[in-house]
Amino acid sequence: MSLYHPVTIGDLEFPGNLFLAPVAGYTDRSYRSICIDEGADFSFTELSSAESIIRSRPDTKPLNDPSPISVLLRRADNEKRYAIQLFGAEPERMAAGAALLARWKPDVVDINGGCPVPKVIKTGAGSALMKDPANLGRVVEAVVRSSREHLGGVPVTIKIRAGWDSGSLNYRECARIAMEAGAAMVSLHPRTRAQGYGGKSDWSLIADLAGRLPVPVTGSGDLYTPEDADRMLRETGCAAVMFARGAMGNPFIFSTTRSFLSTGSYAAPDTAHRLAAGFRHLERLAADIGERQACLEMRKHFCAYTKGGEGRPGMAGGAKLRNQLVHAETIEEYRLMLQDVIEGVLP
Ligand SMILES: Cc1cc2nc3c(=O)[nH]c(=O)nc-3n(C[C@H](O)[C@H](O)[C@H](O)COP(=O)(O)O)c2cc1C
Repeated sequence: MSLYHPVTIGDLEFPGNLFLAPVAGYTDRSYRSICIDEGADFSFTELSSAESIIRSRPDTKPLNDPSPISVLLRRADNEKRYAIQLFGAEPERMAAGAALLARWKPDVVDINGGCPVPKVIKTGAGSALMKDPANLGRVVEAVVRSSREHLGGVPVTIKIRAGWDSGSLNYRECARIAMEAGAAMVSLHPRTRAQGYGGKSDWSLIADLAGRLPVPVTGSGDLYTPEDADRMLRETGCAAVMFARGAMGNPFIFSTTRSFLSTGSYAAPDTAHRLAAGFRHLERLAADIGERQACLEMRKHFCAYTKGGEGRPGMAGGAKLRNQLVHAETIEEYRLMLQDVIEGVLP
């Protein structure tokens, strides 16, 4: 079987196994939609707080409500399937938050068991869930029940780390408990909370989990190229891979990886293709949050689109261009700043 293959999560079949990971501050619906255009098989919202949803009740606002929490939860127009990721530590609050997601009809509800950010872990949520596996199980159980009662029983999944620190690598126990509580997939980012995002992720832990768990295991960590994805799928036997930092400024990683897994080769996107995706991204974001805010948000994205990466050359003008891009305030300014690059390459 090709390493690019369908994956089944609960009773949902996905055509392929190349997922876009949840990345706070990046994977809003405009960027998810660009990744879908470029071949992502499944995508996750960034983490959203069950408490905030309960408090601000975005489900009672108009469907096009521009407030951040409403924009965060919304499906992209081309997103046939998406997961909303929730964080929280209290089983009943997580169940209540999940119940309020009905209006967005998520296809999957994913539970964040990996976030290392102090604001999140001080509430017992994110990676702090792994410090109390019995409570982690109760959270999964409560969200599964809530999904059955309010969301038509969509699959509930969880994303975890290797453990809290190197002295407590309890991903096996947490994954088993989550699965027994009804989780239909476990995503593993094999770094500890203490490692944050530094150092190397330990893929042998993904292999270990994939060999034990009867539900699909999705691997995350240090996926920057099609070759990385190929190696992770081959070495670990995981069902799917999830691109995170490797997809920033490089939504093309989905099509190049698919090509590499299916044919053994791929062509890096040319500059015209990369910039066209950047402008499409900007326009979709502006439609959601207004031009000014979108232009501010897009500074980091445009810097990423123009930077080189594995297989992609940096664009003409390089560092000087990026110094300008971080001052752009309108779509027109972006066009002017990128004019030389565009004229050089766009028809
Ligand atoms: C800026 C940033 C934000 C992230 N936000 C989330 C998030 O909201 N939910 C989540 O489960 N993981 C989040 N992650 C973790 C990624 O999904 C991924 O597991 C991790 O970055 C490892 O993959 P990588 O080494 O390929 O980037 C975030 C990572 C980064 C760098």
